[in-house]
Amino acid sequence: MTISPGVSFSVHAQDGTARTGALELGRGVVRTPAFMPVGTAGTVKAMYVDQVRDLGADIILGNTYHLMLRPGAERVAALGGLHAFSRWQGPILTDSGGFQVMSLSGLRKLDRDGVTFRSHIDGSSHRLTPERSVEIQTLLDSDIIMQLDECVRLPSTRVDIERAMRLSLDWAERSKRAFGSQPGKAIFGIVQGGDVPDLRIASASGLADMDFPGYAIGGLAVGEPQDVMLRMIETVEPFLPKARPRYLMGVGTPDDIVESVARGIDMFDCVMPTRAGRHGLAFSRFGKINLKNARHAQDHRPLDEASSCPAARDYSRAYLHHLTRANEILGMMLLTWVNLAYYQDLMAGLRAAIAAGRFADFRAETREAWAKGDI
Ligand code: GUN
Repeated sequence: MTISPGVSFSVHAQDGTARTGALELGRGVVRTPAFMPVGTAGTVKAMYVDQVRDLGADIILGNTYHLMLRPGAERVAALGGLHAFSRWQGPILTDSGGFQVMSLSGLRKLDRDGVTFRSHIDGSSHRLTPERSVEIQTLLDSDIIMQLDECVRLPSTRVDIERAMRLSLDWAERSKRAFGSQPGKAIFGIVQGGDVPDLRIASASGLADMDFPGYAIGGLAVGEPQDVMLRMIETVEPFLPKARPRYLMGVGTPDDIVESVARGIDMFDCVMPTRAGRHGLAFSRFGKINLKNARHAQDHRPLDEASSCPAARDYSRAYLHHLTRANEILGMMLLTWVNLAYYQDLMAGLRAAIAAGRFADFRAETREAWAKGDI
């Protein structure tokens, strides 16, 4: 069904609350549940775009905050937009900047109209408003634009959480108005409300009344335990329209993803597979493998001879251990490749399991592998 001009979303199968489907944008189809590799600065770090595509990623993520500071949204637009600039031809979702301002920038001042902050790169002063964030994302030629929001870290007081949630609702309305109508593209609202159930519900229903094409759940995986995060998803889910995609921002571990899919989430992004790969950690169907550990120093075996990824099949653990210890670029490239392959295979496995009505078995198998901790 059409959710926005030139954009449609359909759920093909449901198993419990878990669902699989497709989000069709002007630039291509996103199979859900989907994992979006993080390409903050116009690159999925340590990966070629062709590799990312060949792993089965349908969509990647970019960041307003980083790209507005360097090289600048107007410059990217003059160079033909983010797709031409980076050579990624599929859909791109861009985050709106608010979250990164809070976590990365220097001195910042928030008011009802927007946020003024200092660049973490050169200390220069910048301002984001809901309207400017949408303008930047439009200049980048983003396919899914996120509203500007304010995310509070947890734990926070109810008063702080409620103020940020109400501000985010106001900014949702302004962002949607600024987006107007962009055929083939969509804008998502972001649910806030911290760990307070009634504030989460007020946020979700307020956004649903605005009739967004898609809904994100923000403000989670910001310091709270997993059971709190999962409870917040369960609280919000009944208030999000079933016929629209739901995106859980910044999550997570493979177990977080499987448990969130079980609760009705369709889209994810996280720096975990790429960042972990640059720090010597490999994700595999056996669990997480820390290649810095000395016990891999003489191990001839590959990470997983049955993996879909050449980096997991064709290189010994001993070599990967050496590259990681020596801080070699190739080590980061190979392990990023391994980890993104694992995440994309996990999503393909989830989609197939939901379609076949065997989600419960898939969930149990994944839980077992990840319950072991580092191996
Ligand atoms: N990324 C992870 N969490 C959030 C959030 O709450 N808001 C935004 N805009 N981005 C996020």
